Amino acid sequence: MRERPDVRITVLDAMTYAANEANVAEVASDPRYRFVRGDICDPTAIREALEPGTHAIVNFAAETHVDRSILEPEQFLKTDVLGTHVLLEAVRERNVARYLQVSTDEVYGDVEIGSSTETDPLRPRSPYAASKAGGDLQVLAYHTTFKTPVLITRGSNTYGPYQYPEKLIPLFVTNLLDDETVPVYGDGRQVRDWLHVDDHARGILHVLEHGDLGEVYNIGGGNSRENREITTELLIATGREWDTHVRHVVDRAGHDRRYSLDASKAARLGWTPQVEFQRGLHDTVDWYRKNEAWWRPIKSGEFRAYYARQYAAR
Ligand code: TYD
Repeated sequence: MRERPDVRITVLDAMTYAANEANVAEVASDPRYRFVRGDICDPTAIREALEPGTHAIVNFAAETHVDRSILEPEQFLKTDVLGTHVLLEAVRERNVARYLQVSTDEVYGDVEIGSSTETDPLRPRSPYAASKAGGDLQVLAYHTTFKTPVLITRGSNTYGPYQYPEKLIPLFVTNLLDDETVPVYGDGRQVRDWLHVDDHARGILHVLEHGDLGEVYNIGGGNSRENREITTELLIATGREWDTHVRHVVDRAGHDRRYSLDASKAARLGWTPQVEFQRGLHDTVDWYRKNEAWWRPIKSGEFRAYYARQYAAR
């Protein structure tokens, strides 16, 4: 909203476990901002949330955590596939000018060598990745069949402030700040391409405003790192040691070894990531250090039961 003073934004959020009102506190009193509680799977909620003349819908709503999709896949299908369908129908019904689907590099599956381009086949390997691929395919099919004005962004692993501490970086940072161990899956040599949340947000806005309808754009951070390297960086940043603070645990089932995005199409459109990784990672550690009041209640609530279920037996 800071970057576009002329826009009004409605946030529709089901406020499930990873949602947090504190995340939008900065804009909550802005007259251009409106909050509606609702589920994207509910067509009535969508109809009520859509103001006449709505120009664009961006679908950030998703179940996103691979480990949870292994424990309980069903909700992923509902939100990521059915929810996308409901939104696409609303775009048709209301003649919304642009619909952007926020997707993920995980739809391409494991990439042994090289980098995924937007025309590569989709080979999702987790229930999460398969549900996101299902959403993407609905979006592209609506463009072909109904000329629905769609765009897709596929982001790489995102990190930064306000991230729910189930994901690698915030989980490890908050555990280490608490002087607890961090669970490294398998040999820790899996590779992810890290993207700062601000770069990701700028990429989505750029594609929304400048992308060609019907097209997919990879939004990659360009920071490929093994999980072991990330772990080492975080140990150093928090003053902990590998021997005392790392626990090697049983690997994730079907764990993708490597993701890598070719983001040259987005670069040709005029977007490139700006946040240098070392700085972004250290700023993120600092943010968690200074914002205990944000994450401590999360880690003692629903998360505690999830953590026990996910990690105890490993
Ligand atoms: P994650 O943040 O869950 O993102 P994704 O599965 O979408 O890539 O995990 C990033 C990497 O870190 C992935 O290779 C799994 C690994 N990982 C661990 O080793 N331990 C953990 O406790 C978590 C959550 C992830």
